[in-house]
Amino acid sequence: MCGIVGAIANRDVTPLLLGGLRRLEYRGYDSAGIAILDREQQIQRVRELGKVATLENPIGKMELSGNIGIAHTRWATHGIPSPNNAHPHIANNHVAVVHNGIIENHRSLREQQLQQGFHFTSETDTETVVHQIEYHLQQGKDLRSAVRDAAQDLHGAYALGVISPVDPDLLVATRSGSPLVIGLGDGENFIASDTAALLPYTNRFIFLENGDLAEIRRDSVVIFDRDGVEIERPVHNSSLSADATELGPYAHYMLKEIYEQPNAITETLEGRIHDGKVVKGIFGHGADEIFQQTEQIQIIACGTSYHAGMVAKYWLERILEMPCAVDIASEFRYRQPVMRDGTLTVTLSQSGETADTLAALAEVKKRGFHQTLAICNVPESSLVRESTLTLMTHAGPEIGVASTKAFTTQLVALLLLVLAIGREKSTISSEEESEIIEALRTLPRQIEQVLQTDQPIQELAQKFADKEHTLFLGRNRMYPIAMEGSLKLKEISYIHAEAYPAGELKHGPLALVDENMPIVAIAPTDLLMDKLRSNLDEVRARKGELFVFTDSGSHFESSDHIHTLAITEPSSYFTAPILFTVPLQLLAYHVALIKGTDVDQPRNLAKSVTVE
Ligand code: M6R
Repeated sequence: MCGIVGAIANRDVTPLLLGGLRRLEYRGYDSAGIAILDREQQIQRVRELGKVATLENPIGKMELSGNIGIAHTRWATHGIPSPNNAHPHIANNHVAVVHNGIIENHRSLREQQLQQGFHFTSETDTETVVHQIEYHLQQGKDLRSAVRDAAQDLHGAYALGVISPVDPDLLVATRSGSPLVIGLGDGENFIASDTAALLPYTNRFIFLENGDLAEIRRDSVVIFDRDGVEIERPVHNSSLSADATELGPYAHYMLKEIYEQPNAITETLEGRIHDGKVVKGIFGHGADEIFQQTEQIQIIACGTSYHAGMVAKYWLERILEMPCAVDIASEFRYRQPVMRDGTLTVTLSQSGETADTLAALAEVKKRGFHQTLAICNVPESSLVRESTLTLMTHAGPEIGVASTKAFTTQLVALLLLVLAIGREKSTISSEEESEIIEALRTLPRQIEQVLQTDQPIQELAQKFADKEHTLFLGRNRMYPIAMEGSLKLKEISYIHAEAYPAGELKHGPLALVDENMPIVAIAPTDLLMDKLRSNLDEVRARKGELFVFTDSGSHFESSDHIHTLAITEPSSYFTAPILFTVPLQLLAYHVALIKGTDVDQPRNLAKSVTVE
């Protein structure tokens, strides 16, 4: 979380930094700040509470301008959101730092620095970084060496951008644990937390490895590895256009991304299915052998990605009869999971930078399990780089904090995985494979149809806006979809929502049901439909108001306090979870809109959770 950006150029970098910050705002938006070295080589700084836009006025008033600078948008970890805690942090008007990550030994560093006479103006861990760099500068070191030595004193995760009047033509960047990319321009260079921030200025990028430190000047970038040895890192050309992250005609990114799902799924399937089969080799070199040896699957993820993993468990058990464990990364990394030979570990992540998922993957590898597959939406991410096999979801940049198209494309990718393993292990017939592929092929068109239910969903949303709680119910592979629907609602509308497998209702949650409790049921036509119907009767008998999302084959009727919406024709067992996610996304969106919350940047959250 937190976004950092920096630039060195022959032109005023202030607008570049502000533009970069706006594109990074999805990472955190508690406060923002910018520091520039002006013509007199003085550090000029502006910091404001709130979003990046709050910087514009004071920057204009100060006529801030300079050829080198750094900027930050914050998601608070240490210290409340306030101007004093906002970055950049400065020591003695001599060095300025922006930081993404968490410094775990900040308390001991602070004590030591207080004894050395440093004066603190914030409650942040970052301020210890800037003092530590200043300390090394005071020992007579040059800027690069001071940053390198200070970084060696830090425990935890960091991506840093550093400028100082001691070397006014140098931007120093270093990372360990938090992402940092260098953008290469003509006579100008940049740093940022991700490539999207820099797409209007360049599409040539270098991804720093853990422990790397870069000396960035207008015409040169020199990188040193963790041992201080000068090293070449490859230059990647990004095919993304800056437009991919523009809002276009939509009111919010979330809405745009919901509507992009047919296309995102088409892109994710492109080149991966042919002639009723999954194309061989799409998971990377050696995948076939790994799949043949796979006896069980361990899925690890967080949040929405975890819900995708839970759906996959139902598919894996049904098609492959293969054991599958699904874990939340922050739990997995601190328990003692029993793993057996033949386990394929599958990590799921939109960003590929989620700290807990990365740490869980590292834990798996430490235990000697090297058969790992990442399903991810960001090709250059740490997760992709650290996994043996990969399958990219081609959803395009997802900006709204509430994940939508990343989830549905993860489900598509997981279905491809199930089919690929099934074929390698001969546990799926080619008829079954073709049937599922056909269901996937028709999915984008079906989603287009589901999107046409937007108007009735808007009307249903009115009935939620004054409620404080909601229950979501589903059975089988629709239970994780109920969880995803409830996460979407609570995340952006701040209505407390919980999901239950419908059969669990009478084991406790039924006590919550009364006329003030809306209950959302996900009810496709399937073998469990009658059982679900009985669960819903139990709810009605307690006066709960029901909202049933179903299909045209189910014969659920609307009546007093039962609102039924057939969102689709009866669909495949396998693609139904993807289809039924869409109305729940729209419901959450419209409820949030009525409540007037910040749909794309809900309070207290950030898009990439790059800290533990
Ligand atoms: O980037 P990741 O998929 O690893 O992110 C995991 C979660 O932080 C994320 O899915 C989060 O739950 C979403 N904001 C939910 O909409």
